[in-house]
Amino acid sequence: MAFKTIIEPFRIKSVEPIHLSTYDERKKYLQRAHYNPFLLKSGEVIIDFLTDSGTSAMSNKQWAAMMEGDESYAGASSWTKFEKAVSDLTGMKYILPVHQGRAGERILYSLLGGPGKVFISNTHFDTTRANIEFGGAEAIDVPVTAKPLPHDYPFKGNIDIDRLVEVIESKGAANISGVILTVTNNSGGGQPVSMENAKAVHDICRKYDVLFILDCCRIAENSYFIRRGEKEYNHVAYYDIAREMFELADAAVMSAKKDALVNMGGFLTLRNKELADECIQRLIITEGYTTYGGLSGRDMEAIAVGLTEVFEDGYLEYRIKSTEYLGRNLYNKGIPLIYPVGGHAVYIDAGMFYPHIPVHEYPGQALVAQLYLHGGIRSCEIGSVMFGKYDENHQLIPASRELVRLAIPRRVYTQSHIDYVIEVFDELIKDKNHVRGLEITSESRFLRHFTAQFRQL
Ligand code: F0G
Repeated sequence: MAFKTIIEPFRIKSVEPIHLSTYDERKKYLQRAHYNPFLLKSGEVIIDFLTDSGTSAMSNKQWAAMMEGDESYAGASSWTKFEKAVSDLTGMKYILPVHQGRAGERILYSLLGGPGKVFISNTHFDTTRANIEFGGAEAIDVPVTAKPLPHDYPFKGNIDIDRLVEVIESKGAANISGVILTVTNNSGGGQPVSMENAKAVHDICRKYDVLFILDCCRIAENSYFIRRGEKEYNHVAYYDIAREMFELADAAVMSAKKDALVNMGGFLTLRNKELADECIQRLIITEGYTTYGGLSGRDMEAIAVGLTEVFEDGYLEYRIKSTEYLGRNLYNKGIPLIYPVGGHAVYIDAGMFYPHIPVHEYPGQALVAQLYLHGGIRSCEIGSVMFGKYDENHQLIPASRELVRLAIPRRVYTQSHIDYVIEVFDELIKDKNHVRGLEITSESRFLRHFTAQFRQL
């Protein structure tokens, strides 16, 4: 029977109170945070859509497993469970536990990268790009969305296969350190990648003898879209879809803070022994010994359980449908957003919402500020604050789009929270023509969005 209300497939055992701040309080908090929500205190936020990373609510089974945490330095039983869960899923032989995704990126990309080297991706996430560029290599994005696509094209996270081949050939296959397929494509609107596309990437990587790396932190959500959008997978279990995708890759980096439903953790997996040996050396030097890396025993226990729970039919159905519910309701109000809605977040096109604010006055950051002021909603700019660069005359080279991401933590908010967010947008629509842009008053060289300070114009 199909009911239209999406009910959360869990009941709540422990609650975390939210302080319902007033507009005046928020105005003060935002000024103190220099208009950057990363600088707000969490207690000053009503609905926290800053990220879906590390913000999941763990299940009773995960909490129970944590009590089994074996904190032995070497050979802990928690490691055995973690290693089994990760190798069953990925089918890869070498499993390196790391404290979060970017630690795996640092280990792998510092080894493979360096001046003259090139990585190609559907879209590099910001920490991925930063790790690559920090080592002197080049990170090139070839998303399928660079060309016009039908409005409802279901796999807008795909890599552009023709462009991929062009870049490999123009840079020379020997200079390509890896092709990174990010599923779902977070910086490209949380859009899914089809199995067909992953297979094509695999074939090209074989042909040119290039390493195929999967950035798999949202692979369960991606599997949902494959089952729904690719006929031959309509009846395949989500877990098996994910396994099939891993089979295509040579290596994988996972931030477990997303689809492993935990608050901290990650892993790097590899098939190749020589590469694994080099990575393991770096793991021991910078993260920890091979059977815990950057994690405590209890973290590994929670990840092992989370990696199973996340593939449950009821969970994924609720997860994707509730994200779609938010997107659809905003879309129906005329809010410009990336369509179809992805798995973990709704991406609003702030450049279109505030067409009177020029890119160098950061329309995305202006929308972020308004969402906070009106509704206590914390969101994240994914536009020229995050990806903008300067030319030699210090003129802004803007990002391709001025987006704002409403990232939804897993199993945390209920439908009434989401309905509240939808209502806050009515307020934003009312005075949208009077909103002004912002100017950056202080910033850092890498990942400036985390610490930048702004002034309202
Ligand atoms: N890759 C992707 C696709 C990500 O989305 C993230 C993190 C990482 C790698 C890095 O993982 O944070 O564990 O070091 N994304 C978070 C976000 C921060 O808000 O989207 P990490």
